[in-house]
Amino acid sequence: MKILICYFSGTGNTKRVVDKFASCLEEKGNSVVVRRVEQPFNENLEEFDLLGFGYPVHAFNAPKIMLDFVKKLPKLLKVKEAFILNTSGEPLKLNNISSIKLTSLLKKKSIAVNNEFHYVMPYNIIFRHTDKMAFRMWDTAQKIIPLDVKKLLNGEKTKLKKVFLGRPVAHLMRIEHWGGRFNGKHYKMLPECVKCGCCVNICPTKNITIENGELKFGKKCIMCMRCSFLCQKNAIKIGFFNKWKVNGAYNFNNPNDTTEDMHKRYCKKAYERYFADCEKRIAEENAL
Ligand SMILES: Cc1cc2nc3c(=O)[nH]c(=O)nc-3n(C[C@H](O)[C@H](O)[C@H](O)COP(=O)(O)O)c2cc1C
Repeated sequence: MKILICYFSGTGNTKRVVDKFASCLEEKGNSVVVRRVEQPFNENLEEFDLLGFGYPVHAFNAPKIMLDFVKKLPKLLKVKEAFILNTSGEPLKLNNISSIKLTSLLKKKSIAVNNEFHYVMPYNIIFRHTDKMAFRMWDTAQKIIPLDVKKLLNGEKTKLKKVFLGRPVAHLMRIEHWGGRFNGKHYKMLPECVKCGCCVNICPTKNITIENGELKFGKKCIMCMRCSFLCQKNAIKIGFFNKWKVNGAYNFNNPNDTTEDMHKRYCKKAYERYFADCEKRIAEENAL
């Protein structure tokens, strides 16, 4: 099969998942093209047998950049099947509603979502998970992805269960798209900034410029956190959400990290359930 996966990833978690998914699909003899939505796009969707869409959950929705990308796609001549891959920082069932708007936009383009796969990955906002937790999340995702690929290729349909009133809740939470732009105007350069230009170059919406030696933040912020997360000097204040800032890439290869987990009680039950469900699936697969 020829498969195209279009994705957005603010800080790299979704990219990891998409790359792993793509390599598992390739191992099974498929040819896979992977495209970031913020880059020039000239693929002809009609040429692909299956489409994939990947994104990080933003306020229980797909990020605006992902929805805008789909709005610009041409309507296909014949209905094409698709799957969704998403990552989120917490394993709450409410995150399952994030695909509602995206799925309905895709439907308008004659793209039918038959499968949704979700992976918990470390937060890039709110608080920093420990490297030990990041290792566990990524290790789990790497073991689950081949099982999901198997399901997908076997033609099994798997949609994530949506909570009651999911549609209006997701609709309401899309205030984040407007809020991101508003908050983005309040991003500030801190004195630690060395004007390396990294944030200017990596911003997916080209929202950051350097004018007269100062960073300027425009009106197109989508709150993906890429600039502040990857800033080597931790020199960006993220407006009203600065207390929730997470700076610096995770080390996903540090299972023996001994940093004290300051947030071990946060959504404890949901994380335990997520890992237990995944471990059960892995054990069942190994027993086959
Ligand atoms: C603006 C914003 C909103 C977010 N909202 C949610 C959310 O509603 N639920 C959740 O579990 N995680 C949420 N997250 C966390 C991300 O979904 C998570 O860290 C994801 O793996 C980041 O992926 P990326 O590195 O590909 O951007 C949010 C992150 C950002 C930046």
